[in-house]
Amino acid sequence: MSIDITTNPASATASTLTLLIRQIRYEATGINSYELVDPQGGDLPAFTAGAHLDIHIKPGLIRQYSLCNDPTDRKRYVIAVLKAESGSGGSKALHETLRVQDMVKVSVPRNHFPLKPDAEKIVLLAGGIGITPLKAMIHTLDKASLDYQLHYCARDASCAAFTDTFADHTKVHVHYDNGDPAQGLDIAALLAAPDDGTHVYFCGPPGFMQACLQATQGWPAGTVHCEYFKAPVAECTDKAQTSETDGSFKVKIASTGQQIGVPADKSLIEALSEAGIELETSCVSGLCGTCKIRYLEGEVDHQDYILSPDEQSEYLTACVSRAKSELLVLDL
Ligand code: FES
Repeated sequence: MSIDITTNPASATASTLTLLIRQIRYEATGINSYELVDPQGGDLPAFTAGAHLDIHIKPGLIRQYSLCNDPTDRKRYVIAVLKAESGSGGSKALHETLRVQDMVKVSVPRNHFPLKPDAEKIVLLAGGIGITPLKAMIHTLDKASLDYQLHYCARDASCAAFTDTFADHTKVHVHYDNGDPAQGLDIAALLAAPDDGTHVYFCGPPGFMQACLQATQGWPAGTVHCEYFKAPVAECTDKAQTSETDGSFKVKIASTGQQIGVPADKSLIEALSEAGIELETSCVSGLCGTCKIRYLEGEVDHQDYILSPDEQSEYLTACVSRAKSELLVLDL
């Protein structure tokens, strides 16, 4: 394994690893898992359940995939990828490009979807390929003997990955809707009345996420946790319309006093780049947190899908965040 260390103004260090693809396994229709190991057989950097990797599929194409194996296994990283025929092409390219014995560049694991330590009871909901981060969580929860249930929703058995792992698991419930949501899990009923101390985690496609978000509207603050793997387009549009400015704003670099204009048709990250300030990016969709930077003053129109309300009071994601005030002061 080789480790490259690069630094940038947004984070003190960012590391990449070059790993060997030891195994590619069919998991379900359209879903392969990829086992990545140190070519010399060494331990890999530790991760916690809910973490993801940036995979450098080919030059200029980087995508994020959740780790789904047991975090205590330091010898391998496993991701599972659904080949989407539509979309931006990342998963299709990954399926068609990566082969056993290839070397692949990945980031060190990052976790924006961690298990919270204070939960007394946990409900996990997975829709389709959204099972990946939650599978890592059940490895952790089983070892901790915590009270939890995982509800895994899929179209049918042929589309459901890892069912062999879950076959005799009493805390895992698999639901097939056969293409008719009315036959599937009643998410609203399941989440209608949370017990005290219960936390919920969910990940899945847009319709599934919407159903979970609606069902958890009345849950106490800090108990609802989710991870998107695709930006919900309608929400992006709504959020963009909340800006009180004409769409343009200025940022000030705290360390130098330099002021940079961000026109309505450019992202903050693009404006910073044109001014010579390069930040590391990955998803460029507000999903991964790679471009997270601290701000010191101003009102932010966040538009990301990754930062918690607490984090948003301190950080923004430079790829999608804009300003509601005329000026933001960035801690750069
Ligand atoms: S690059 Fe992923 S959140 Fe900005």
